[in-house]
Amino acid sequence: MPYDDLLSIARTVTTRAAALAKQRRSEGVEVAGTKSSVVDVVTEADRETEALIRALLAEARPHDGFFGEESGAEKGSSGLTWIVDPIDGTVNYLYGIPHYAVSIAVVEGDPDPASWSALVACVVNPAASETYTATVGGGAFLGGAAIRVADSVEPAQALVSTGFAYDSVRRAEQGALIARLLPLVRDIRRQGTASLDLCSVASGRCNAYFERGLSPWDHAAGVLIAREAGAQVTGRGEAPPGRDLVLAAHPDLASSIEKILGQIGL
Ligand code: IPD
Ligand code: CA
Repeated sequence: MPYDDLLSIARTVTTRAAALAKQRRSEGVEVAGTKSSVVDVVTEADRETEALIRALLAEARPHDGFFGEESGAEKGSSGLTWIVDPIDGTVNYLYGIPHYAVSIAVVEGDPDPASWSALVACVVNPAASETYTATVGGGAFLGGAAIRVADSVEPAQALVSTGFAYDSVRRAEQGALIARLLPLVRDIRRQGTASLDLCSVASGRCNAYFERGLSPWDHAAGVLIAREAGAQVTGRGEAPPGRDLVLAAHPDLASSIEKILGQIGL
């Protein structure tokens, strides 16, 4: 399989980070600070988990770059960069909802989703003991089992997952859009962890996922996992997935969902 060595490092580092996050959760978690808004929180465990990941990667891959949610970017010389969300789903984590993840991807090129090329991805949900992996061209896996996107359905039968930004003005727009979308689909899920939303499309646990306003670390790993499972993942139109939009679904369903989103004002 291509990129086996990188995948092995990604899996080891993500698994160790997930164990630390789970341990800290069991000891009790409090808000350590806020970021873009009063509801955009960070815990000490987010910071500690990212520090562990950064230290392990510096040892295993000293020439690679690093780009993490909590501690920022550092250029490398190898052309590869590790994109890290130490705890995706921080609000779930804070409340003890067992649906959060450590998300790590290795990308080639500039650490910018508009142009990077993802090679390897690993997303671990410690509370569910689930590990999703993918390598480009090598398929996507949940544990040891290959996963595939669900067969295409009509939009009216589609279970659609989404997420909301931390900014209240944007939330008002997103709420209005959901009110128009809900009558047109099977149902809506807002599970609170973008990386796992993408993994859910990959494993057929939902039919489609879309979100606006995501940061690179939220979707770097999940996009590769969803694509390797057969999903189409794009931004608006032909654009690559990014802050403006991430839309993932079976290729036949993705175009219908995109059309509907356009009609209701996305
Ligand atoms: C958030 C989650 C959430 C999504 C937000 C993200 P965080 O990441 O992935 O599901 O709706 O847009 O910011 O803050 O928990 O790492
Ligand atoms: Ca995140």
